[in-house]
Amino acid sequence: MYQHIVLIGMMGVGKTTVGRLLARKLGRPFLDTDQEIVKREGRSIEAIFAVSGEEGFRQIETGVLQSLLEMPQPTVIATGGGIVLREENRALLRQLGYTIWLQLDAARLVERLAHSQPQMRPLLFREDWPQVVATLMKQRQGLYQTVADYSVAVAAKSPLQIVQEICQIVRVLERG
Ligand code: S3P
Repeated sequence: MYQHIVLIGMMGVGKTTVGRLLARKLGRPFLDTDQEIVKREGRSIEAIFAVSGEEGFRQIETGVLQSLLEMPQPTVIATGGGIVLREENRALLRQLGYTIWLQLDAARLVERLAHSQPQMRPLLFREDWPQVVATLMKQRQGLYQTVADYSVAVAAKSPLQIVQEICQIVRVLERG
């Protein structure tokens, strides 16, 4: 069976930007789980959190992840930062293919998130959101680690450099 390339990591680390570029470079389709959730539900992430809560969102996220097993061709997949929280999702991520963890320290993440569109990240709709980023990161580090086939430190690298690094990693992984 072919392997998808799945990008995991915290909000703001650049999974979508890198994923799009990587897909273009490899000539593969690109899919972002958050965008897929919005498309399937016909409502925004913000609306899903407001009406159904985080638990409702996670339920939908798992459904999307399950359905990706049926995808007909090798795809580059960018995931939401909390996708690793459920055991079930971690097993699905392992099944989908090569999982690459994009890593950045909390201070730089906060810097990036301060300049990003907040709508897709209701968990950060609060005054002390930088603190929330640090806390979530602590809670999730171990989970990212258990799922990742490989990790890439993204600090001080351009998206294109990161893409090149991932291509090298995938070549090595594919050789087995
Ligand atoms: C979340 C990250 C978001 C989105 C949702 C929850 C999280 O995706 O799935 O707001 O729990 O970290 P990004 O990682 O693409 O921002």
